[in-house]
Amino acid sequence: MVLRLGDTVCMSQSISAGLEVLYSRQQIAERIAEMGAQITNDLGDEKLVMVGVLKGAAPFLADLSRTIDVDATFDFVAVSSYGKGQRSSGAVKMIKDLDQPIEGKNVLIVEDILDTGLTLSYLRKLFLQQRPKSLRIAALLDKPSRRIEKIEADYVGFSIPDLFVIGYGMDFAERYRNLPDICLFPVEGSK
Ligand code: IMP
Ligand code: MG
Repeated sequence: MVLRLGDTVCMSQSISAGLEVLYSRQQIAERIAEMGAQITNDLGDEKLVMVGVLKGAAPFLADLSRTIDVDATFDFVAVSSYGKGQRSSGAVKMIKDLDQPIEGKNVLIVEDILDTGLTLSYLRKLFLQQRPKSLRIAALLDKPSRRIEKIEADYVGFSIPDLFVIGYGMDFAERYRNLPDICLFPVEGSK
């Protein structure tokens, strides 16, 4: 069962019914296929280590990896910076480090959103200390207007204004990660 909102579609289940869709699952899949083709092309015959930033990037990494046609392995890190709110606390802390060393490897950090840039600046600095062969960043969403640290992703799915989004891995207080579409977080009182 689906519920139509203009030309956007929400799943008719209690957690997502009535939410406004920013990018539908189809738009996400199409954009990710383009990103994967570009990444494949840029790598040539090289191998790749995809490093997902838990938890938000898990669905993106799963889908992106299947559009990248090179010999790839997965690793995951977890960092904390947001707590349970919508705004960063400013401090980034590693909760789960890489399982395997990345020295001499082609590394792609896979992140759901590049927002203030604090998380990715922290990870980039840390990873570069291990001297990878190359280090690139793929971010599904980019909010350039929110940047505090000077950092750009090499591959960006969609550039968006300062909106708080949920779904497709992204949460508010750990909820909504399992929505298949990227939705706008409802303003106070609307849900
Ligand atoms: P940054 O360190 O400020 O760039 O924060 C990046 C992280 O903040 C992302 O990986 C998300 O986990 C979280 N984040 C930023 N904006 C949003 C949003 O709109 N919805 C959900 N999480 C967000
Ligand atoms: Mg995240």
